Amino acid sequence: MTPKKKGEDNIMGKVAIYPGSFDPITYGHLDIVERALEIFDKVIVAIADNAEKRPLFSIEERLQMAKIIFKDTPNVIVDSFKGLLVDYVAKTNAKVILRGLRATSDFEYEFHMASMNRSLNTHLDTLFMMTSKDYFFVSSRTIKEVAKLGGGVEGLVPDLVVRRLKEKFKLPVTKKKQIGWDD
Ligand code: PNS
Repeated sequence: MTPKKKGEDNIMGKVAIYPGSFDPITYGHLDIVERALEIFDKVIVAIADNAEKRPLFSIEERLQMAKIIFKDTPNVIVDSFKGLLVDYVAKTNAKVILRGLRATSDFEYEFHMASMNRSLNTHLDTLFMMTSKDYFFVSSRTIKEVAKLGGGVEGLVPDLVVRRLKEKFKLPVTKKKQIGWDD
């Protein structure tokens, strides 16, 4: 290992790539980014443009939502990528792929992905951050399912995403259906 010269890390700063489908972006994602900014100088939110996954929101819609959400966070860059993640990372000065880990059920998929990425590029590492307890049950998939059936997802995704989900599923924008214990 070549020893780093003093201050070398600070020349370009520590950059992490946070890749995902973000279909749509949730407070779980935002929580990871916020905490990652305590460790990294810059976080690149890299939205995968993979039509095969048949996303609910187009890549343009996902990019637009994320750009609005992070518009006041200068150390966050929102971008999209096609093809292999490692090829995208190689075009940046990042050495770390960041992923959130919710439960043991996430582990196998994440382990395979991180191992594959590492075998494709041995200079890259994947760093996992545990999702905060408030969001460990939140996934883009369940958010879409609940929203489609008219359930309330307020507090789990940013307000902008709540509105976009309602538009997508043609639900009344004012509708709030969150059932409390007393109902
Ligand atoms: O939010 P997701 O859907 O779990 O994110 C998965 C994502 C986009 C990070 C992953 O599918 C990916 O990196 N896709 C790009 C294609 C690629 O590099 N595949 C090889 C990794 S096994």
